This record gives sequence, C-alpha cells and structure tokens, in this order.
Amino acid sequence: AEPGWTETTDVVVVGSGIAGLTAALYLREQGLHVTVVTKVNIDDGSTRWAQGGIAGVLDPLDSPQAHAYDTEIAGVGLCDPAAVRVLVEEGPARIRELIRRGAEFDRNPDGSLMLTREGGHRADRIVHAGGDATGAEVQRALHEAVRRDPWIRLVEHALVLDLLRAADGRACGITLHVLGEGSEDGVGAVLARAVVLATGGMGQIFSSTTNPSVSTGDGVALALRAGAEVTDVEFVQFHPTSFVTSKTDRGSTGVVFSRSGSGSSLVDPVQRPLISEALRGEGAHLVDEAGARFMVGQHELAELAPRDVVAKGIYRVLRSTGADHVYLDARHLGKEFLEGRFPTIMASTRSAGVDPATDLIPVAPAAHYASGGVRTDLHGRTSIDGLYACGEVACTGVHGANRLASNSLLEGLVFARRIADDIARELPPQAEPARTAAAPAWVVDPEIRAELQRVMTRGAGVLRSADSLATAAKELTRLAEQRSRPNNAAWEVTNLLTVATTLVASARSRRETRGCHWREDHPTAADEWRGHLLNAIAPNGAH
Ligand code: SIN
Repeated sequence: AEPGWTETTDVVVVGSGIAGLTAALYLREQGLHVTVVTKVNIDDGSTRWAQGGIAGVLDPLDSPQAHAYDTEIAGVGLCDPAAVRVLVEEGPARIRELIRRGAEFDRNPDGSLMLTREGGHRADRIVHAGGDATGAEVQRALHEAVRRDPWIRLVEHALVLDLLRAADGRACGITLHVLGEGSEDGVGAVLARAVVLATGGMGQIFSSTTNPSVSTGDGVALALRAGAEVTDVEFVQFHPTSFVTSKTDRGSTGVVFSRSGSGSSLVDPVQRPLISEALRGEGAHLVDEAGARFMVGQHELAELAPRDVVAKGIYRVLRSTGADHVYLDARHLGKEFLEGRFPTIMASTRSAGVDPATDLIPVAPAAHYASGGVRTDLHGRTSIDGLYACGEVACTGVHGANRLASNSLLEGLVFARRIADDIARELPPQAEPARTAAAPAWVVDPEIRAELQRVMTRGAGVLRSADSLATAAKELTRLAEQRSRPNNAAWEVTNLLTVATTLVASARSRRETRGCHWREDHPTAADEWRGHLLNAIAPNGAH
C-alpha cells in the first residue's frame, strides 16, 4: 500500500527491548535524532520477561577467555570467535554503562555486584536485579532514560511492514502500520538515513514458548522479503524449564504444550512462565516421577549443563514415561531464600497453586530463543547497506548452534553500542525511496495462528526428523493458501508463516544433530555441517 503519512528522522529503530532502546540512547550520544517504532507498547517485548540476568566478567578471578570458552562450547562449533571476543571483552563496560543509565542490580552487603551462575557457565558471572526480575529492571531503566530524551520520538502500536530502498539499494526507511494514523488502512512511512532492526524473536511459531505474544519474527520476515542475508534459523533454543500449569495438552508426538489455565495475568495463552536456570544455579535439582536426579551422570555439569543438553535429558524422560513434565525440586533452598531471591517465580507458581517451598515444580521445555536471524558483521551491519540488526533478530555469530544462558541481554548491549558508533561514522544524507523491498504479495488469515503453532510444535519442535519436517512443510503450504484482507493480525501471522517456512526448510537441509537442532534420523554432529545455511524466500514473498 502507498504510505498515507510520512515522517523523517536520522535513524529509525524498530523495536523497544534492550537492543532497540540501548541503540537509541547510544545514537543520541552521537547527536543523532532517533525515532523508535514498536509494535504494541514500549515494554511488551521479551526483555522484561528475562529472569536470570546478564553475563559479564566482573569478578577478578574470572576472565574474558573463560567466558568465551563457555560461550563457544555451548555453541557447538558454530560461534564466530571474533564476535564472541567482542561480546566478552566489551560486555563488562556496557553493563557498567547500563548501571550509569539507572539500572539497579542486586548487590552483596559490601556493595559489590552479586553474581550467579546458570547452565553452561563454569564461573559465577551473571548480574541480576530484583532477584529474578532482571529484565523488568533493565526495561524500566531504559524506558525512563528514553522518556527523558526529547529527541527520541517513540511511536507505539506501529507494526513494521517493509524496508524502503533508495535507487542504489541502500536502506532509507520503513513502511509501517500505525493504529489510528494516516490513510484509511493506516500505512505510513518513516524515512531515515539508517534503519536498525531490533524486533526480537520468533517464539510464537510454537505452541508453547516463554516469549510474549509479540514475538512473531517480524524483523526476520522483513529481512527475508528484502533479500538480506538470514542465517541459522533452524537453531531455536528450547528452555529446559518452563512452568507447566495444571491444564496441559499433549501434541501427538509427545511434545507438550499448555494453555494458561491459571487465570493468572502473568501469562497469555501460549506464553509459559519461565523457571529461571538461576534456580538450578542456586542448587535446585531436576527429578523424575520417582524422585531420581536424571541429569547426574549425563553431563559433568549435571543440571547445569548447556541448555540443549538439559532440554534433551528432560525430553528423553518425557518420552520414556509418557509424562508431560518432570519436576524441579527447590524445597531444600528454604522458603525465606526462595522468596527473597526468586520473587517472580514464587508469584507465578503460587498463583497456579504450586509452592516451590513445599512442592515440586512441574516443568517442561518450551521455545525460548532464536540463535539465528539476520546476519550481521561485527558492527551490526546486514548485507543491505544502511540496514542494521541488533539483539535476538540478529545473527552476529556469538550464539552458534545454542546460546549460552544470559548472553542475549549482553549481546543487545554490546552490539547496540557498535551499531551507534558505526552509524555515526558513516551516515549518508537522506535518500529518496525508489522502491519498497518486496511487500508481501498476499497475507494469510490470522485464524491459522494456533494451527501453525501446532504444526511447528509437532514437526519442527525439540525433536525433528525428515518425516516430521516434510509433514510440517506440507501443512504450512496448505495454511499459506488461506488468504485474508491485510490488517495487523494478518500481517503478523504472515510473518510467522514466513519464518516458520524458512525454519522448516533449513531444518530439513541440516542433516545432523547440533546444539538445539535435534534430528532423530541424524543423531550426531557431522563435520561437513560445521557451517551456516543461508535462508531465503522467493522475491515475491511466496515460499
Ligand atoms: C533464565 O533465567 O533461565 C533465562 C536466561 C536466558 O535465557 O539467558
């Protein structure tokens, strides 16, 4: 559609989690005008749900080399060592800058930062806030900093549609749909000298996820339509321990998914409450129905093995017992400690009738994080000039086949700063848009959303095979035929379908098991697969 209204700024940032807001603040320090557009409200993204914390070497006995080692072990051969070096070396300074912006992390009685541990880390290096409410505190602090700056314009309820390109191909803005603005169908445009995608993840392609309902892969879908390089989308990490509420349902392959039955306002229909790995970091154990610690003996770090190892360990128990959950036993940590250190988890479990001080907590894996995304270099530049990607939407190379716990908020901080520096170094004048990059030729019926999630959970979830993926591909093709008039819900589901279809295609191609990509029919990692698949869709937006 033709834009009904247009505004112009230096840099448009799409998304308002840690990556987007941090980028906006660093861009302001460079003296640039910034417009932040966000799909719903400023704090509706994943950042505020983060519990565990932010990893960073802040203990003199720890080292960047040790943090890099743990990151690369978790990434199973696919991390880019140069990107990892940037992450671990620049991380501590970026955390201190976040503190200067107003984020308050938990401290020891002597005033030093309190550090904890999560899966895959061999040292205590994770800062946290409000016990297990790190993301909420980070979002609060960034939100306040952004509100204080009159030169950051915030546009809420704005769904990004597509990239605008100048005659030479350079990104020069975006089209978007803003509720209540402009032309009849509300389509507008922000023209800018550079575009930063910080749209977050895509967990909503699955029936059970720790991600909020806004995580629909919008940035990756936009990048695919624009022909930007997208990579590693087959690596979706399943968090081992999401809370299984009383009303659960089972997919036909034994993958569990739940409807929120608790009536709690903390969850939406497919967002499952997270039970932070930090709970295991503080000593909670995973046990099966019989009370046996099944991770002991499977990995030297037992419950604190990297996330893919623990998710697989749990999944094997579920398959052999037919249960839809295992248990986390935190009772020995004591009521007082649990209430002080994990207030968010205590509230969400208690609201569903489970008290971790006295009860076992039912848990199961749920889709949590997209390790792949829009490919960038060490400055956050994508393969399209003037288009940058930051945070979960990006694939900087730091996560490889499986992200290390608490490295994602860190990645947002570190690369947001690099992007702002790069933009300030080489910002060209505003160019006229010559074309929209391949606006979708059609949109699908929003009614297919739940079915798409079931198809993906059954065929391309924790466990995959050639057969399950072929079935998923066929089902997605069928769902793509159900067209609709363009509106926000339809655009969102079209994005889900685009990223789901892309994910299935790359998961079919990668005939090995590596990190969080688990192929039942190819159960080991293969050296010839130690590389990255580039993902693409046909230029007209069809698959
Ligand atoms: C958690 O608190 O377990 C989540 C941490 C993360 O996803 O990095």
